[in-house]
Amino acid sequence: MKPVWVIILGWTLLVPGVGTAWRGPPEEASFCYGTFPPGFSWGIGSSAYQTEGAWGQDGKGPSIWDAFIHGKKGPVLGDDTADAACDSYSKVQEDIALLKELQVSHYRFSLSWQRLLPTGVRAEQVNKKGIKFYSDLIDALLKSNITPIVTLNHWDLPQPPCPDVSQNASELAVNIQAVFLPSAGPHRGHSQANGLTACDLYQPVLGPEFCGGVKEKMLQAAYGGWQNVSMTRYFRDYADLCFEVFGDRVKHWLTFSDPRTMVERGYETGLRAPGLRLQGTGLYVAAHHIIKAHAQAWHSYNDTWRSRQRGLVGISLNCDWGEPVDIDNPDDIEAAERYLQFCLGWFANPIYAGDYPQVMKDHIGTKSAQQGLAVSRLPMFSLQEKSYLKGTSDFLGLGHFTTRYITGRNYPSHKGPSYQNDRDLVELADPSWPEMGSPWLYSVPWGLRRLLNFAQTQYGDPPIYVTENGAPQKLYCTQFCDEWRIQYLKGYINEMLKALKDGVDIKGCTSWSLLEKFEWEKGYTDKYGFYYVDFNVRNKPWYPKASVQYYKEIITANGFPNPQEVERWRLKALETCSINNQMLATEPLLRHMHVASEIVVPTVCVLSILIAALLLTLLLRSHS
Ligand SMILES: *[C@@H]1O[C@H](CO)[C@@H](O)[C@H](O)[C@H]1NC(C)=O
Ligand SMILES: *[C@@H]1O[C@H](CO)[C@@H](O)[C@H](O)[C@H]1NC(C)=O
Ligand SMILES: *[C@@H]1O[C@H](CO)[C@@H](O)[C@H](O)[C@H]1NC(C)=O
Repeated sequence: MKPVWVIILGWTLLVPGVGTAWRGPPEEASFCYGTFPPGFSWGIGSSAYQTEGAWGQDGKGPSIWDAFIHGKKGPVLGDDTADAACDSYSKVQEDIALLKELQVSHYRFSLSWQRLLPTGVRAEQVNKKGIKFYSDLIDALLKSNITPIVTLNHWDLPQPPCPDVSQNASELAVNIQAVFLPSAGPHRGHSQANGLTACDLYQPVLGPEFCGGVKEKMLQAAYGGWQNVSMTRYFRDYADLCFEVFGDRVKHWLTFSDPRTMVERGYETGLRAPGLRLQGTGLYVAAHHIIKAHAQAWHSYNDTWRSRQRGLVGISLNCDWGEPVDIDNPDDIEAAERYLQFCLGWFANPIYAGDYPQVMKDHIGTKSAQQGLAVSRLPMFSLQEKSYLKGTSDFLGLGHFTTRYITGRNYPSHKGPSYQNDRDLVELADPSWPEMGSPWLYSVPWGLRRLLNFAQTQYGDPPIYVTENGAPQKLYCTQFCDEWRIQYLKGYINEMLKALKDGVDIKGCTSWSLLEKFEWEKGYTDKYGFYYVDFNVRNKPWYPKASVQYYKEIITANGFPNPQEVERWRLKALETCSINNQMLATEPLLRHMHVASEIVVPTVCVLSILIAALLLTLLLRSHS
């Protein structure tokens, strides 16, 4: 009998009572040797804001994340920014070399909306340099036989107005920063906090021309971002541009990436951009508009581009698996089902069946009535909208990282309305599950197989791409010999193989992620990268971890041929990484030399000049 840890909104409490429910995963004992179907697509992923850098370069407009990070102190651990991130904007060839080394068949990356449309609005301004950047990236991938899987929106959103920054980019960057720094919140441009409008803030710095139509130009500040239904139209226009200019070469599109986390952090807890805390309402409204925006983009593709381009448009939804604490207890079974519907069904059900899951409508409706509201906090789709939404995905993208045990919450919550409260459940984790680098992430491979089977039955056997799966390393030390990641990778990919044998139509696997990168409010402390990046050195060199070698072997063998072979991969990978460890051991020395040349030398020079001047003055005085 093992105790089970309870996680409620980030606290961990010991609850001995549920210990009896623990049971071991039967799948662990039965590792499945065998190969994936021919043509199974192996890949790795990243996203624009987390890696590109070049935040004010070549005509890119500022985004809600630029504003969020520059705007107030402390939204990100260590006050890190993604202004430069991994410099992927200027290191396309280097990134592609890594992809080739890994021998992946696809690369999942996202486009920066504000790099293509600096104000967010297609009718206003299209940035040719942005188009060229992605166009070249796509060409370079195809030349290396790597299929691009392109995400249109990965959490970023255009924010303030932007003139032609190509002329005076660095100066403008400084100016915009100056505008953002003194005020209090990321959306202060439009807030009444100090009685200033965005226009008042920008005009002194950017000139009077900014105030003509400035409100139309600020998607987040002026329209409230995804709170405003107009966003769906702007998103469709943006998607349409991408289909038009890249669709001859890109055949796999993802409209959004993990919109659930995006709206929960951005519009409910405020931990991430745009930092709004509209509890129990903001996230449902934002999600409502995102679902409509997705459908509009899909229809636009279906009506205008599909016949010529013959590609696929889907969405990437993240969900952890929810397992009932006690499989014989109907309340637990119901609670686990509810967990999945609030997580995956929230977005997948409208897209596959035309409406929100009934259990969400029931729970949020009841709670809204108890609050005395006349209508539910969960918006409704009209009949016309339902039929417009239904069937708007050519494949399902699934992101998955970990699992929870779920039980119903049978005590009242004294907190106000929120997404957490609306679900009426408690999430538990088994302390025997191996912990990864983030406190929420345990390695529980069997959860993935169950999630894949769940998605297959719920949404009518769609083709599925696993669009995100991976684990960060623990803080502090650099671990090239990431054997724990090798175990995670091996376990989760094996569960995909089992799900395929169950009959789930899985087309590909995307490991997360290529490089260590900006991890939102965690800054650079959460390290998901297969490649270690040394951010302390100016050209940010990278080094492969052992998992690179191991993943490459899985890809080359298209699965797990036999126990001897798989064990040999592990040993070989661990051998390679110890060589890298030795290389890094010599690095602090190099870094010291670097510091010497960059700081010590100029300081000594300045000091010498000062002392010389002082002596000279004294000398002159004594002479006079
Ligand atoms: C850049 O800004 C400076 C100072 O405002 C100005 O004098 C200069 O003409 C600008 N350069 C260009 C290329 O616009
Ligand atoms: C929504 O956006 C439109 C612009 O398309 C704007 O006119 C309107 O005021 C915005 N609504 C809200 C509530 O911000
Ligand atoms: C998608 O496009 C095809 C071909 O033009 C059309 O027959 C079909 O009705 C469209 N699907 C939807 C749901 O609009």
